[in-house]
Amino acid sequence: MEVKRFGVSLENELLVELDRLVGKKQFPNRSQAIRYLIKKFSVEDEWEEDKNVAGAIVLVYDHHKRELQTKSTDIQHNYHDLILSVQHVHLDHHNCLETIAVKGKASKLKSLADKLIAIKGVKHGELVMTSQM
Ligand code: NI
Repeated sequence: MEVKRFGVSLENELLVELDRLVGKKQFPNRSQAIRYLIKKFSVEDEWEEDKNVAGAIVLVYDHHKRELQTKSTDIQHNYHDLILSVQHVHLDHHNCLETIAVKGKASKLKSLADKLIAIKGVKHGELVMTSQM
């Protein structure tokens, strides 16, 4: 891919902030940090405009709560057209980590994630959305 160069004018404080982020997030240089920020902004914009996006729902729950798995499966079947894959990892005696790869309209992914995260017994849940590039 062709790379173009352009000049950026920034106040000193913003430049200091950019360099702080480059260091903290371990970007190799300022350009990579700016690429990341543009992409992040553009993904959020696609999300807001309800475009087709891809992502992952991550859930941590106690599998001893039996009804939880039935409810989760029911919900996943209702949204089967959005789900690409489900990975289940047994973290320890009690806890399971489920990673559900999803693709579809941002609003639908959000609604699926909200329903799963709201199930009683889910300890933590998060939806990560990215663009389809
Ligand atoms: Ni498990």
